[in-house]
Amino acid sequence: MFPERRLRRLRKRNLQPLFKETVLTKDDLIAPYFFDETITQKKPIDSMPGQYRYPVYQAGNIAEKLKKQGVRAMLLFGIPKEKDAAGTSAWIEDGVIQKAVFEIKSKVPEMVVITDVCACEYTDHGHCGIIGESCGGLKGDSLDLLNDESLDIMAQIAVSHAKAGCDIVAPSCMLDGMVMTIRDALDDEGFEEIPIMSYSTKFSSALYGPFRDAADSKMSFGDRSTYQMAYENPREAFLESKLDLMEGADILMVKPAGFYHDIINKVSSLGLPVAAYQVSGEYSMIKAASEKGWIDEKKIVMESLIAIKRAGADLIITYYAEDAARWIDEKK
Ligand code: PBG
Ligand code: ZN
Repeated sequence: MFPERRLRRLRKRNLQPLFKETVLTKDDLIAPYFFDETITQKKPIDSMPGQYRYPVYQAGNIAEKLKKQGVRAMLLFGIPKEKDAAGTSAWIEDGVIQKAVFEIKSKVPEMVVITDVCACEYTDHGHCGIIGESCGGLKGDSLDLLNDESLDIMAQIAVSHAKAGCDIVAPSCMLDGMVMTIRDALDDEGFEEIPIMSYSTKFSSALYGPFRDAADSKMSFGDRSTYQMAYENPREAFLESKLDLMEGADILMVKPAGFYHDIINKVSSLGLPVAAYQVSGEYSMIKAASEKGWIDEKKIVMESLIAIKRAGADLIITYYAEDAARWIDEKK
């Protein structure tokens, strides 16, 4: 029996654009940037070719360039000049992020400035908060991140970013209660209107390797598996995001993106906007294979980003934001 339904009818070249189910627009993109207080010139990140650490004074120019390209939002990470056990430099008034936010907002007020709220770039041990003796579960391995003791740090960091003028705070420490604590603190300080984009489901992933070089946030011992999600556990991963919704998050996030489409899809059913983070390792894998000439960088990047949208993400944080914006323009 010859098929009556011929799907090729709608695939004629001129008809194709009418039937695209998923579109990627420049408004979907968020560009991550690293600002380093200890440098005066931009410095390449070896494990992420094409990405740099920038001195703070260049933040405004970068924002201007991004705006010209049509990228509306940035996610900021900071490398401070001083680190200590509690990550104090993360919430000082003239800290690296606080200064970068100010630079960007004075030059490009309409740029959406999102700040990563975590302590790991600011602690000398590289963990995401305060460490101490805890019931880590294994003998001789009792030093670990302390959950409740670290919450106040996150509140202080978030408030200091809000005071500096950011648009959205993005806590990434994966502590229990982080969203609620930050919400309370922001509200107490009069920042009821500042949304929280929670790194609500963040997996304990080897794909963050290049980032830890970039942000100088390698751990001096242990790993993050007692606070970040195990990638074998989709049910728990969903619950992580659900709890953050209940604690008052405005935007949920799944991270990494590429290996976690199922989770993105599930989390998008919760009803809040969902961001997905195409992380450093995803970037570096595409970059390395492209540099070898083994894959077509532009095509792979667009395919990877559309796949993330198709999974259910509303927003994509990607080191390819600027390139993607250019490629989207070229297509028109
Ligand atoms: C800090 C943080 C990390 C990333 C974003 N915020 C790394 C980590 O948990 O070690 C990863 C981003 C990337 O790999 O691009 N908590
Ligand atoms: Zn961290």
